[in-house]
Amino acid sequence: MNIKIILSLLNLFVFSITAYSQGNNYEQNYSKFKGLALTPPMGWNSWNKFACNVNEQLIRETADAMISSGMKAAGYTYINIDDCWHGQRDSLGFIHPDPERFPSGMKALAEYVHAKGLKFGIYSDAGSQTCGGRPGSRGYEFQDAQTYASWGVDYLKYDWCNTEGLKAEGAYMTMAAALQRAGRPIVLSICEWGTDKPWEWGPEVGQLWRTTGDIYNCFDCIEDHGTWQSFGVMQILDKQEGLRQYAGPGQWNDPDMMEVGNGMAVNEDRAHFTMWSMLAAPLIAGNDLRNMSKETTAILTNKEVIAVNQDKLGIQGFKLSSKDGLETWLKPLDDGNWAVVFLNRGDGPRKVEFDWKKNPITDELSKAELNASQTTYKIRNVWTKKAAGTTARSFKAEIPKYDVVMLVLSK
Ligand code: GLA
Repeated sequence: MNIKIILSLLNLFVFSITAYSQGNNYEQNYSKFKGLALTPPMGWNSWNKFACNVNEQLIRETADAMISSGMKAAGYTYINIDDCWHGQRDSLGFIHPDPERFPSGMKALAEYVHAKGLKFGIYSDAGSQTCGGRPGSRGYEFQDAQTYASWGVDYLKYDWCNTEGLKAEGAYMTMAAALQRAGRPIVLSICEWGTDKPWEWGPEVGQLWRTTGDIYNCFDCIEDHGTWQSFGVMQILDKQEGLRQYAGPGQWNDPDMMEVGNGMAVNEDRAHFTMWSMLAAPLIAGNDLRNMSKETTAILTNKEVIAVNQDKLGIQGFKLSSKDGLETWLKPLDDGNWAVVFLNRGDGPRKVEFDWKKNPITDELSKAELNASQTTYKIRNVWTKKAAGTTARSFKAEIPKYDVVMLVLSK
């Protein structure tokens, strides 16, 4: 044996001993924190209303309004800053907030939010820059995760602009590993717009994943921006088809943040909120909580509708039928109860007549059954907040254009 081989064998031996005695500290855990978001996350995000106009005063006032409006009492928890909070990276690569917009720093802001019994969320991007052109996390994932953890961040929305050459699953796994290494339980909100089927790999990596491009405040429209489009409430709803089997406690399809209170008619807002509840979607308000009309507040804080969204079984609802613009949706609930929605997306009022006994329903996914010939359910209209008879008789109603009737059936 020549001396070179002996030396390299010796080297290998010493290396193995060292690595062994230190443990495999280069190994990463590429999966999400378990036990978070067992029901769809509820909160607020700055983007839909404020876009890049974010600052610490807005965030503080929004945290205050979350409480004074009754939103916190209704279950909303997260105060999430979206794009454009960023300043520069320093010479060591650490990210800092924009010093003019966030002069007190993110740790102080997170402490303010936490002191109110709320949780604090932030935004970054898997690419070199965010969609708003601020510094992205590519190449800085572990450093950024450490920074967020040191600030007290509880929720990270992680976007997908400027990701040339990256593959989504791997890029999101890197951030999941970085959050694990930082050691703080942080919800990872995957925001790659459904491009690379995040429902297939997202459940291991994050707690929720966007299924579509961006929403905007129109009930039934598409807005063309040239290279990209944003979608109205009905367009986003239709894009959820075929995804319900991927949802469940700790893993949610995300049809985007809400536009309730951002300019649609009250009936449209009500229908939007109803459908997001039926989809077991994250309920992230996107309006100005400091200036809500009483109608907007009533929609966002309807506890019976929220209870459908937050039902602990975590089963996403499904469309039973669609005829002449009238859709019937069902969502199995805990204890054998059901939520039922009649959605009128047609061009005028529609009459509903639903004979429960003639329509026994079995949900193939959850195996839940609604059989009114065997069980008579009490019916409650959760928007009018009134009892509405039982399933012994057909349900009849007339529904205005772009509105809903939402019922909860209980044994
Ligand atoms: C993307 C996301 C939006 C928002 C913006 C911010 O478009 O999908 O939800 O975060 O970026 O620039």
